[in-house]
Amino acid sequence: MKTLKSVKEKDIELYRIVEEEFARQEVGIEMIASESYAPTPILELQGSILTNKTTEGVPGKRYHAGCGVIDKMEVLGNERAKTLFKAEHANIQPHSGSNANMCVYQSILKPGDTVLGMSLDTGGHLTHGHKANFSGRFFNFIPYGLNRETELIDYDEIERLANEHKPKLIVAGASAYSREIDYEKIYNIAKSVDAYFMVDMAHIGGLVAAEVLPSPVPHADFVTSTTTKTLAGARGGFVLCKEKFANKLDKATFPGAQGSAHLHIMAAKTYNFKHAMTEEFREYARQVVKNAQKLAEVLQEKGFRIVSGGTDNHLMLVDLRPKDLTGVQLEKALEYVGITVNKNMIPFDPETSVTTSGIRIGTTAMTIKGMKETNMEEIGNIIAEVAENIEDYKVLDKIKIRVCDLGAKFPLYPGYFESF
Ligand SMILES: Cc1ncc(COP(=O)(O)O)c(C=O)c1O
Repeated sequence: MKTLKSVKEKDIELYRIVEEEFARQEVGIEMIASESYAPTPILELQGSILTNKTTEGVPGKRYHAGCGVIDKMEVLGNERAKTLFKAEHANIQPHSGSNANMCVYQSILKPGDTVLGMSLDTGGHLTHGHKANFSGRFFNFIPYGLNRETELIDYDEIERLANEHKPKLIVAGASAYSREIDYEKIYNIAKSVDAYFMVDMAHIGGLVAAEVLPSPVPHADFVTSTTTKTLAGARGGFVLCKEKFANKLDKATFPGAQGSAHLHIMAAKTYNFKHAMTEEFREYARQVVKNAQKLAEVLQEKGFRIVSGGTDNHLMLVDLRPKDLTGVQLEKALEYVGITVNKNMIPFDPETSVTTSGIRIGTTAMTIKGMKETNMEEIGNIIAEVAENIEDYKVLDKIKIRVCDLGAKFPLYPGYFESF
């Protein structure tokens, strides 16, 4: 690895760790649904001199001198985000997806206000009201979930809870939900009780950008996202909103929720939005979904149960109970052979969040490396073989070699690390 030359000279211990992680990413089969590989311009921008400048506020209204140049970047980033998602206003300052959500809550809520959000154990995110998170500590979140039969979002439950609790905000969006969300339906419920409507599209932002999934932007007052996951870019967040909330959102972001901006990351997001407008990106996004659907089909054929019957996006939740396995068991065995997934609770899971009855699998990262449906068939078969031989290390060692051979055919950043 020829990059990080000066790190290698000055801090060999740290360099070795990065090198080791590089090797892991290079050959591993990465199926964690939130992971992706950022293109090299994004890595370059994240490591650029833009990290040196301090800014607070928004372009044209700063608290430090010398912001004229950097303002051009932030304006460009905001404009690109607006164009990409057909939004009225954008703020690309949030340091992460969690911060993006905090910025919206800070815009329109007071501590103690009531909010409806999808519960973590049916697919929502920590920032949608979990008790261990700032959202659940500062606001009165009422959880909604899935219909037990269909394992689809229970819109009737949202309506019932909205009428009962009269929330100030309804939050939609998820970390582990594989089906399309009916934004119009939730918007209508929100408006019937005079609530704001926010969609957290952190996982599916790239699929929305590529118009592979419907956009929440026409319906939601606020849309939040990360630029990682399916957007496959910088490690950060952003918020889109209707023009009437622009001022509130900008003030809630700074000084409300954050201090100085991370300009190097914002530049990487700005690149990301341009890249996401290309045909290359759209093709990648279409392939992500084709790959996920193929993998779900193969796993079903092999006797696994896919929660809610399949997938419309980049991920699936796999119920392991038909195989008499837990999530923690299969996660460990797959990691042993070189396939990375995460254990995940399935809806109405009888197991704890430490053990779980399921795993979550995503196809974003391996699609970026160039995998197609035939590779998904192979991976599905391997997952099934691992499940059948969960503690047979002789068999697992043989599978490990196959996984390594497969991974080696799909290198990470070919040429990039040699070019420095
Ligand atoms: C739906 C959703 N929102 C927000 C986040 C938080 O993003 P971050 O990890 O950047 O804070 C995640 C991350 O997994 C997510 O899945």
